Amino acid sequence: MISKITVRAPSSTANLGPGFDVFGLAIDAFYDEITLTKIKNGITIITDDKIPKKPENNTAGLVIKNMKKKFKIKDGIEIKIRKGVPAGFGMGSSAASAAATAVAFDKLFQLNLDGNSLVEFAGSGEKASAGSVHYDNVAASVLGGFVIVKTNPLDVIRIDPPTNLIMCIAVPKLEVPKKKTKVSRGVIPKKIKLTDSILNLSNAAAIVAGFMNKDAEMIGNSIKDVIVEPARQHMIPGFSKVKQNAIKAGALGVTISGAGPSVIAFSKSTSDLKKICTAMSKGFASTGIKCQTIICKPSKGSSVKRK
Ligand code: HSE
Repeated sequence: MISKITVRAPSSTANLGPGFDVFGLAIDAFYDEITLTKIKNGITIITDDKIPKKPENNTAGLVIKNMKKKFKIKDGIEIKIRKGVPAGFGMGSSAASAAATAVAFDKLFQLNLDGNSLVEFAGSGEKASAGSVHYDNVAASVLGGFVIVKTNPLDVIRIDPPTNLIMCIAVPKLEVPKKKTKVSRGVIPKKIKLTDSILNLSNAAAIVAGFMNKDAEMIGNSIKDVIVEPARQHMIPGFSKVKQNAIKAGALGVTISGAGPSVIAFSKSTSDLKKICTAMSKGFASTGIKCQTIICKPSKGSSVKRK
C-alpha cells in the first residue's frame, strides 16, 4: 500500500473555436503538480499559491471530498498543490489541479477507475472555480491529446493529435475578473441563428476529421467560431488585432483559449512560429497590453511523477 503520490497534469485549451464545452486539447505549456499523502483524518491543503485553502472552496479539495465520500474512504488526506498553470487565463488552471487530484487519489487507493469516471470526479472539482461543471478542460488534462466530450451520459472520446500541430499562445497581462469563467459564460447568447449553428457545426466536424486524419492544416483552417467568440471578444482588448496579425504572420486559425483572455493560434511545425508570436504581441501592444507568448505542442495526460 502506498501512502504518498505525486501527479503532474498539463494545461489545456478548451473549445478550439466551434467546439464550445465539447472540445479540449492538452498542451505542454504549463503543468500543475499535486502530492497526496494519507494522514489520520480530515483534509488539509498546503500551498504557496494564492488559492482558497478551505477544501470545499478549493478545486483539489472538492475532488478529494467527493471521492472520499463515494468510495467511503476514512483516511485523512494532505493535499500539496504546486501550481504551474496561471489561474484565470483560459489555460485550464483549475482543471489541471482537479485532474491531477483525481488521478492521484485513484492511484493512492488503487481504485482502477476508467477514464470517464476520472473525468467525472475531476469535473466535480471544477465547480469550485467555474460555478458550473464543464468537462472539456478536465477531460484533456486527465486523458491528454484531443478530446470530444459527450454528455448525458458522460463519454469522452480521445484522439491523438498530429505530431506537426503546434500552437502559439499569447497570455495577456490583464486583471481578470474574480469569477472570470462565470462572467464570460454569462455573455454567451441563449438563442442562436440556425445559419450560425450550421457554420459552427461544419467547422467542428472538420476539426474532428482533421484530428482523425492527422491533418494539422484541416484543423487550423476550421478553427472558426461565429457564436461564442464574437460574444466574448469585447472582454479581450486588442483581440481583433491579435487575431488579424497572427493570421497575416501565417497562423492557420486563431481563437480565444477557453474562456480567455489568452489567445491561441494553431499552426504547423513548418510555420514561422516566432513570427506568429511577435505578431500576436504587437497586436496586444497596440492597445497598450503586454503579453507572454509561448510556443507549445499537444501534451499527454496526467501522469505519476517518479522521483
Ligand atoms: N468551455 C468553457 C468555456 C471552458 O468556454 O466557458 C472554460 O475554461
